[in-house]
Amino acid sequence: MRRINIFDTTLRDGEQSPGIALRPAEKAEIAAALEQLGVDVIEAGFAASSPGDFEGVAAASEAVSRVTVASLARTTKEDVDAAVAALAAAPRSRVHVFIATSALHMERKLGLRPEEVLERIAWSVDYAVSRCDEVEFSAEDATRSDRDFLAEACRTAVAAGATVVNLPDTVGYTTPAEYAQLFHELRERVPELARVDLSVHCHNDLGLAVANSLAGVGAGATQIECTVNGIGERAGNASLEELVMALRVRADAFAAETGVDPAVIREASALVAELTGYPVGPNKPIVGANAFAHEAGIHQDGMLKDAGTYQIMDPRDLGTAMTLPLGKHSGRHAFARACAEAGHQLDRDQVNAAFKRFKKLADLGVPVTLDDVFQEVRA
Ligand code: KIV
Ligand code: ZN
Repeated sequence: MRRINIFDTTLRDGEQSPGIALRPAEKAEIAAALEQLGVDVIEAGFAASSPGDFEGVAAASEAVSRVTVASLARTTKEDVDAAVAALAAAPRSRVHVFIATSALHMERKLGLRPEEVLERIAWSVDYAVSRCDEVEFSAEDATRSDRDFLAEACRTAVAAGATVVNLPDTVGYTTPAEYAQLFHELRERVPELARVDLSVHCHNDLGLAVANSLAGVGAGATQIECTVNGIGERAGNASLEELVMALRVRADAFAAETGVDPAVIREASALVAELTGYPVGPNKPIVGANAFAHEAGIHQDGMLKDAGTYQIMDPRDLGTAMTLPLGKHSGRHAFARACAEAGHQLDRDQVNAAFKRFKKLADLGVPVTLDDVFQEVRA
């Protein structure tokens, strides 16, 4: 089993979701929960972006005792200095330097020539190396970058002392096969990458963030950047809980594991939802209210006979339980079980009659409880 590092960026890329602005105390609370969850790195913010975010990174750094804390920084002295200062209390500090490497971003956004970008990478990584415990370099828009230039950018970052190199799919454009190919090609063309951690960072614009991240892991990446509940810019980032459980449930396919404790994933998810004001959809994998709910009669019947019929992971590992909610599609078996659990002692004919009443009410399209069913009898 390969050990994959989880770099959680809920407090930085996740906070870039429109409308989210976490106060320092809230960042500290989430950071403590992330440490308990077992992530390896917490990216707590972008210290130079605002005084409030500087305080947020500092508060998160103080709230934890073991985990590495990172701050994002552009390739400038001001940004690196702010990141270093904000991380002063971190048990272990990481400055995360980034600059775009695609022609589109370099020309249209930065107005820099490729040589100037390489100079900035070399200068900023070298400047940061002696001021914190570790330096990560990200080649923003890597998936739309010229491969020769991207390889040169990676070589430059490693030569300057970066110990983590990240190849982000900044705009959620790549596909699993293409992203895997990018990692294979870069590892072949830049043998120095064998000495550093290689990282995936995927956005979800086409709904492929988790699949792309896993493809990168299959192609040799050793770090995954992700967020709790998949929050982040635009359509969000790769979702931590989905990645961790995919690696766990399909260990046979990925032969890789993380240090995340599944038992506290749902707690962390609820905290992030509460503090960000971004609710979790009911059908969200792993943490949604319906992730382990089986409504259809055929499924309920199967679940009552053998949970393996419709369940690929044990919800108890996540501190929760499967449910058999009663609805329009529910079956007689689950209905009879629910009646017995609610204390209604019914013989076969009574169950059949009650089930008929239940189906009639359920067809009206409103939520039905057993009370509704038995009230109708009493009325
Ligand atoms: O999506 C991206 O490219 C980023 C970088 C700053 C790592 O978030
Ligand atoms: Zn991002």
